[in-house]
Amino acid sequence: MDRTAFEVTNGAQRVVFGPGTFRTALADEVARLGGTRVMLLTTRRWLAEAQAALGPSVAAAFSDVREHVPIEVVAAATRLAVEARVDLLVSIGGGSATGTAKALARSRELSGVPIVAVPTTYAGSEVTSVWGFTDGAGKKTGRGPAVLPQTVVYDPEASRQLPVELSINSGLNAVAHCVDALWAPRGNPASDALASEGLRRLASALRTIRADPADRTGRDSCLRGAYLAGLAFERAGSGLHHKICHVLGGRFGLPHAATHAVLLPYVTAFNLPSDPAADRRLAAALDAPDGLSGLTTLYGELRPPASLERLGLAEADLVEVARLAVEAAPPSNPRPFEFADAERLLHAAWAGDPVAEPGTTSRSVASFARAADPRVRGLLQALVRHSHAFAREVGLTEGEWAAGVDFVTRCGQVSDEARQEVVLLSDVLGLSMLTVDLNAPADPAATEATVLGPFFHEGSPEVELGADIRGNASGLPCWVEGAVTDPAGRPVAGARVEVWEADDTGSYDVQYGDGRVAGRAHLFTDDAGRYCFWGVVPTPYPIPYDGPVGELLSAGTRSPMRAPHLHFLVTALGFHRLVTHIFVRGGDHLDDDAVFGVRRSLIVDFALQPPEATRPDGGPTEGPWARVSFPIVLAPEPSAQAGN
Ligand code: BEZ
Ligand code: FE
Repeated sequence: MDRTAFEVTNGAQRVVFGPGTFRTALADEVARLGGTRVMLLTTRRWLAEAQAALGPSVAAAFSDVREHVPIEVVAAATRLAVEARVDLLVSIGGGSATGTAKALARSRELSGVPIVAVPTTYAGSEVTSVWGFTDGAGKKTGRGPAVLPQTVVYDPEASRQLPVELSINSGLNAVAHCVDALWAPRGNPASDALASEGLRRLASALRTIRADPADRTGRDSCLRGAYLAGLAFERAGSGLHHKICHVLGGRFGLPHAATHAVLLPYVTAFNLPSDPAADRRLAAALDAPDGLSGLTTLYGELRPPASLERLGLAEADLVEVARLAVEAAPPSNPRPFEFADAERLLHAAWAGDPVAEPGTTSRSVASFARAADPRVRGLLQALVRHSHAFAREVGLTEGEWAAGVDFVTRCGQVSDEARQEVVLLSDVLGLSMLTVDLNAPADPAATEATVLGPFFHEGSPEVELGADIRGNASGLPCWVEGAVTDPAGRPVAGARVEVWEADDTGSYDVQYGDGRVAGRAHLFTDDAGRYCFWGVVPTPYPIPYDGPVGELLSAGTRSPMRAPHLHFLVTALGFHRLVTHIFVRGGDHLDDDAVFGVRRSLIVDFALQPPEATRPDGGPTEGPWARVSFPIVLAPEPSAQAGN
């Protein structure tokens, strides 16, 4: 279950996650820690909102946090905190805000003052006990329990304001936490698991954010991924990638997140050949043939900055960077990092050289990167990734590929106005039903939907309530009745109820070939929402199986039969269109319906009636008959709901 919101305490840290928590939970969390004189550490962007959320408990506000946490900024903020006698620090923003709070919390003057962190980027620093600041000599880092924020409030809504390019860079910084954790000095099975899940989430969420920066699910998932990435990094420690980034940021002033984004593929290309376990994990998390191509494919879609030169590093500085990077490299790195390695790696990253010849998947995905419509781009790129993943998973042979092409070609050839073999293919693969599932209205009270099928036909006759729609369709007469209501049980008058069904030989009227109308009509509900008509009791019938789809079913030893059913299409102003069936309880093929259309809630009793039982008006005058009742609940359209 993907919890909309959650709270968790991990050792010394409490985490509150959920949309809107900045407004709804921050003040409570401050109070829970006994904060009465709060200091805000943030940028101007958040000041007013933070003051509104915290009210009079704000005793000091410092809105001048800066990247890399310069020592003079720490000194100024510390003075302000001491003067204002603050008893709690609230950081709101990215790694710089959290980092400034951490630097204060480890100072002698403010020791023991707790931190509540509200991260608005994906930097992850809020879940680590690593602190860092820069002075003239570069970046100093260390770790200690005093700097771990006591509480983190994650609000995906707050991260939605982050511009798309910054989001991509910050998200790739989180990706780097995961990747570096795979070979970092204190890596362990827990950090590996956190890194894998973090990567999986971040990759998919960043793709969503690239397509639509305002997408709520993308933001939510990215923040969860960043949280996991931070936890992985906290457990595993800094690997080679972070060490090099600290040199570039701390000594040469390069922007933190963008530097991570640029450098990661180069460090990954360097380390992976010596670390097959990391390669496998990365490949699995990114759904790719190998870790590096997974990462380069992702980069092709996200389009982060391409080189250290673009970030402002001078070529002349590369030698010094390489020297410092070799000094900082962890001895546990999967392969030694010599000066020549460092120079080569850094020069390639400076120039933006390709890390590897891009694989076929990367190039194919990237070929759609410039599609003007972001939705079209997302659809086509996902189609390429997943079809390539299919070919890789099965180890597709050339003969199988040719058979597949022939199959699709024949599906096209047998299709015409009356027969749609491609839809049938989608039906028997369960794809049609999955699409129905994905688009179902969320209302749990609403009647469930199922597939439309190929036998719906525009232009059915309109009939009165209680009419006999059988035409000359053969079968046991059946009285069908019910009421259409909204989820609160209020009748929906004037709803259009369209019904169609096969006769007891398994044929629909459109298959008779002579233009007759039978077992098909539409009618409108009365003021009480009621509908009723005479039809026939449905019987099982096969979907068309004399074409390529039939061959597919035979190859799978699958039955072409559909469970006995009667189709409904119900429409009413202000409500979602409902496409559904009712199925005969006790009928055959309820468990192996050829198109996966059966849902338990749609199986109903068709009760057999003795011939002498009193019939509703207008029914057949002799012989046995049946009756069935099917209440229909329509889900309101969202706009109609708002007006209620
Ligand atoms: C049908 O119920 O009419 C149907 C649905 C899917 C495929 C073939 C037939
Ligand atoms: Fe049908």
